[in-house]
Amino acid sequence: MDLAALEAAVARDIAAGVRPLAVVATAGSVNTGVFDPIDKIADFCAAQGLWLHVDAAFGFWTLLADAPMCDLAKGIGRAQSIALDFHKWMAVPYDCGACLISDKTLHRATFANRPEYLASANKGLAGGAPWFTDYGIELSRGFRALKVWATVMATGTRALGAAVSDNIAQAKLMGDLVDASPHLTLAHPVVSNLCCFYAVRDDDPVEIAAQLQIEGRVVFSTTLIDGRQCLRAAMVNHRTTSQDIRAAVKAVETLVGGQ
Ligand SMILES: Cc1ncc(COP(=O)(O)O)c(C=O)c1O
Repeated sequence: MDLAALEAAVARDIAAGVRPLAVVATAGSVNTGVFDPIDKIADFCAAQGLWLHVDAAFGFWTLLADAPMCDLAKGIGRAQSIALDFHKWMAVPYDCGACLISDKTLHRATFANRPEYLASANKGLAGGAPWFTDYGIELSRGFRALKVWATVMATGTRALGAAVSDNIAQAKLMGDLVDASPHLTLAHPVVSNLCCFYAVRDDDPVEIAAQLQIEGRVVFSTTLIDGRQCLRAAMVNHRTTSQDIRAAVKAVETLVGGQ
C-alpha cells in the first residue's frame, strides 16, 4: 500500500463529505507475498480514527518464523481486526479461517441476535456463556476449532514456525536459482514464500504450468505482474525440500531452452 496515496484518498473522501469506513492492509499479498507497512498504516489510522483491518490469510504465520521474517507483519497487533487462514500455511484441512477482533464488546454487539427461541437462561441447556452464535453470522456451526487444536497439539507451534521459515528460505532459493539462470527472469523480488518468474524466451507461462502439472512434476500457478504473465510458486508445504525447489526450476528450464 502506498501510504501517500492512502492519505490522499482519505483526505479526498473527507473533503467530499464521505467518512471512510476502514483501511484494509495486507500481510502477505496473493501475487507477490509482499507486506504492507502495517505500523505506519496503524499510525495513520489511529490519527484519523479509522478502523484498521489486516488481511493476513497466510502472512499471519510469519509471526511464528525465525528473525528477521517474524517482523514482516510488524504492527499487526495494532489492527482492530485481522483475517487469517489455518487452511493455508498451518496445514489444517479445508475449511478453517478465523477473524480476530480487538473489541470484544463491539464484536458481540455487532453479531448478537437473540430472538425468543434463543433466549439465555440461568441454568439448563440455555445457560452459560459464551454463545458462539453471538460472535458471527452462523447459528449452526461445525467444530472447526478441533482441527486447529489437533494440529497444534500434534505438531507444536515451534515446528509450525520452523516450517514457515523453511518455506521462506525455499522461495529465496528459487529466486536465487532463477536469478542465476540465463533462461529465466524474476518478475518480482522474493519477499516471503512466493516466487514469480517468466522465461527470457517469452514462452507462455500458462502452457508451461499446464504441461508440468499434467506430467505430475511440479504445480506452478500463473499470475499477472506488471501486466506480464508469469509462473507463480507459493511454498506452504512442510514437506517441500530444497531438492524439490531445484527440480522445479530445472523442470521449467528444460521446457524453455535449458538442459
Ligand atoms: C491474502 C489472501 N487473502 C484472502 C484469501 C482468500 O482466502 P479464503 O480462500 O480462505 O477465503 C487468500 C487466498 O488465496 C489470500 O492469499
